Amino acid sequence: MTAPLVLGIETSCDETGVGLVRGHELLADAVASSVGEHARFGGVVPEVASRAHLEAMIPAFDRAVAAAGVRPGDIDAVAATAGPGLAGALLVGVAAAKAYALALGKPLYGVNHLAAHIAVDQLEHGTLPSPAVALLVSGGHSSLLLVPDVAAEVVPLGATIDDAAGEAYDKVARVLGLPFPGGPPIDKAARDGDPAAISFPRGKYHDKTLDFSFAGLKTAVARWVEARQAAGEPVPVADVAASFQEAVADVLTRKAVLACRAHGVADLIIGGGVAANSRLRALAACRCDEAGIRLRVPRPGLCTDNGAMVAALGAEIVSRGLPPSPLGIPADSSLPVSEVVVRATPGGRAAAG
Ligand code: KG4
Ligand code: ZN
Repeated sequence: MTAPLVLGIETSCDETGVGLVRGHELLADAVASSVGEHARFGGVVPEVASRAHLEAMIPAFDRAVAAAGVRPGDIDAVAATAGPGLAGALLVGVAAAKAYALALGKPLYGVNHLAAHIAVDQLEHGTLPSPAVALLVSGGHSSLLLVPDVAAEVVPLGATIDDAAGEAYDKVARVLGLPFPGGPPIDKAARDGDPAAISFPRGKYHDKTLDFSFAGLKTAVARWVEARQAAGEPVPVADVAASFQEAVADVLTRKAVLACRAHGVADLIIGGGVAANSRLRALAACRCDEAGIRLRVPRPGLCTDNGAMVAALGAEIVSRGLPPSPLGIPADSSLPVSEVVVRATPGGRAAAG
């Protein structure tokens, strides 16, 4: 028997993603990004993102179905990111998913964006080990999670107490005059720089918690650059980028290894947009190797937001026979990471099953 065909819809931030997955097989991954429309503001403008999702949704669905070579009627289940994310942006994807589920007569699964960033790895490396520790690093989140079961049980271990890692990349890029989003240009500039040129602070490095802090690092970079400019000296962009990137990768990998050790877990998964970072990937590989931890990181294209990750999580949930969400589920901008599938409607009634 072939596995169910699952549609995944992602609209939590500035990417409109529509993916189609069967089991662990990726059939289509259509992504339309509104990033260009936000660039001049130096950050995502929620209302602009929502409108862009509205325009991109149906064309992205049509592209995904065509790329997969399936008909809409072949879809067995519909999954959508219900949270966390930008409220208005989430609303577009959740409403579209409800409409497709209703029109196709198929079940709806409102799922957690963060769990989807982890589940996507199954498309590349097969069934997730259990339990695993996940390091989730994106524009909106930096968390360490214990993952006994990505479809049903995700436990928060630690998180940033201020800025997310991706947010720090985006803000430092602005200070350096690099474009938004800052991750890719900093990653590129850092290749020509010396990571030991400047010793930037590593927040919460020596405490025993599994929390992060990036606000101090971001401010330290800004002060360093301002001091150079005030002295009329040129800013060595490559060295600043490399030194900043080293500080971020150093803290993230140190705490990820600490989390694995503290919980006796031998498998680490890294997900989210910042997992596309070349230095984070290299340093994680090196430190996991030293610590005897197996490391899994999806390819960069699956790390940043996309619909395939939502379809991958949906496929896992469907394969377990877990109950779907009621059609009345809300978009929940602050959905807790422990809630993998949304089951309650705004009135608090549990899913009928
Ligand atoms: O997961 P994602 O696509 O969206 C959110 O859920 O936030 O992550 C976007 C973040 C942005 O802050 C972007 O600068 C960062 O991921 N990012 C990177 C790289 N590619 C994207 N950060 C560092 N290095 C990269 N290569
Ligand atoms: Zn994300």
